[in-house]
Formats: sequence, structure tokens, C-alpha cells
Amino acid sequence: MKATVLAHPNIALVKYWGKRDDALILPHQSSLSLTLSPLSVTTTVEFGVPTDAVELNGHVAKGSERERVLRLLESVRAQAGDKSLGPAKVVSRGDFPMAAGLASSAAGFAALAVAGRAAAGLPRDTKAESILARLGSGSACRSVQGGFCEWQRGERPDGDDSFAVQRFDAAHWPELRMVVAILDRGEKDVKSRDGMKQAVETSPYYAAWVKDAEAEVPRAREYIARRDLQALGEMCERNAWRMHSTSLAADPPLCYLNAATVGLIHHLREHRKKGVPVWFTLDAGPNPVLLTDAANEVAAEALARACGALDVIRCVPGGDATLKSEH
Ligand code: DP6
Repeated sequence: MKATVLAHPNIALVKYWGKRDDALILPHQSSLSLTLSPLSVTTTVEFGVPTDAVELNGHVAKGSERERVLRLLESVRAQAGDKSLGPAKVVSRGDFPMAAGLASSAAGFAALAVAGRAAAGLPRDTKAESILARLGSGSACRSVQGGFCEWQRGERPDGDDSFAVQRFDAAHWPELRMVVAILDRGEKDVKSRDGMKQAVETSPYYAAWVKDAEAEVPRAREYIARRDLQALGEMCERNAWRMHSTSLAADPPLCYLNAATVGLIHHLREHRKKGVPVWFTLDAGPNPVLLTDAANEVAAEALARACGALDVIRCVPGGDATLKSEH
């Protein structure tokens, strides 16, 4: 009736940006990500308590945050086919700064999906867990498994073919490094959920984004297979720029970059000219994530700090969401 699970966040190398179904969280295009260690979120789910209670990072969750958690657990109850599970208590805590712009919700919902099923007595099943996690937040479906995961967009209206699969595990490329440069700790003005909707509805470039991103996924897979940092780095930057271009062209326009972000990107290019293998990706916020290898992670951190980073988190490829305890 009670289970605790630890999951890692992930950073998209080919981004998910836009839904074809808002309720089921079905994307217009496939995406591909890398799970990040040592960052993690630990979530405990307990069924059979007197009333539903959701605590996220020491605060009682309210409004849409609470609704998303309870909706996911409703799907767990349906999967278990067990009406006697009763209300649930959820306690979730992340070990990294939530304002970092990293998708803490991805790790949180992945941990919730795996813990929810385990607490309901259901067996481990990465497809079912990924679909459940997706109902909480799209990117969460890519945090159920470690290493490099691909969220296949699927075709079905019920979303049963829209889930993430692991392409390579964390051990495939242990020298790969992702260095998170925290340039701004503030909350972002427009959340991913709203930003992508605005892009889908108003950006004249949106159809081109979808076509292009879908085509990048198999290329990214190929670069990862041969551990080609340069090709992957170039692809990452291209894909991030295209996601941001689509958003800049929305009405009203969405600009997630701030002055420090642009400064860092220019600086990074100079470093690259001097032979430092470092590239960036950027989610819907001002904090870039630098892609490099173990031999250059110190240089990447120094670059981020020289550009005003308030904090730097060095990450390595992470593992699967894991069950810590079950009662
Ligand atoms: C830019 O998964 O947070 O990080 O599905 O609405 O919860 P919802 O959005 P979310 O969006 C992530 C967008 C992104 C790119 C990515 O992670 O693929």
C-alpha cells in the first residue's frame, strides 16, 4: 500500500514543444533526452489513508498542481481495477534547486507514476509507467528509464502508443557531461505548458518545427550510437535554436533568453574556436545546459561562472527510476 521511488530529471536533446491533445498530453513530434544524475526527486505514495494529501517540497500542493497528481493516481486506481485502494498520501521532495529551470516536474511525475503503481500492487512495466508519467507532465515520460530515452509521438487518439523507450543506457556514454549553468533563479514568466500552446496556436513556423524535430530524432540516435560529441552538440544547438525561433515568432512573442544567456552563448562559441568541445541546449528558460565530456567539464564550469552563473551543477548520465521501499 506504500512505495517510495527515486527518479532523475532529464534534459531534452531534441525538444518536445507542443501538444496535439492537451488533456492526454500527446505531442506533435517525438523527442529524445538524457537522464541526469546526481539530481533526483524522491516520492512516496501511500494508499488507504483517510483523505487525499499532496506535499511537494515541504509545501501542501494546491490548485492545478494537486489536481495533476490526483488525476495521475486516479489512472493508477483504474489500472489496478481496485476500488478499495482509497485516498492517497503523496510526499515528494527534490534534491536540487527547483527554480533552476530544470524539469523537476519530470522527475517528480516519473517517480509518482512508478511509486503509484508499486503502492497499488502493480508490477514494474516501463511502458505503463511512462504513459502514466506523461499524464502528469509530458517530459516526465522520459524519466522512467535512465540513459537516452526517446518519446515516440504515437498516432493513436487514446495515447497508448505515446510513451518513452530507452535507446541507450547510462553506461553507453559515461564520459558525456551536462553542465547546468544557473544564470537566473527566478520563476519563468511563461510556463512551458502555456508557452508551447501559444507557439502551436500562433507561430507561423510551428509546422516547420514539427517536421524538423521529428527528422532530428533518428539523427540524434545515430550520433549517440557512435558517441559523436561534435555532431550531437551541433544538433542540440540547432534544435534548441529552432524551438526558440518558433516561440519568438509566436504572437505575443515568447523570449526565454535573457542578456546573460546570450552572453554565455557568444562566449561558448569563442571557446569552441579555441578548441574546447562545448555546446549548449536551452529549455523554456534562461539557464543553458552545456554539453561536453569529462575532460572538459571543469573548463565548461569555468566558462559558465565567467559568464555570471550563480550556480553550476555538473551532471553525468543517470539511471532508471528505482524503487527504494515497498510496504
Ligand atoms: C522545453 O513536459 O514541462 O522542457 O507536458 O505541459 O507538463 P507539460 O510540459 P513539460 O514541457 C517540457 C518542454 C521542454 C522540452 C522538453 O523537455 O522536451
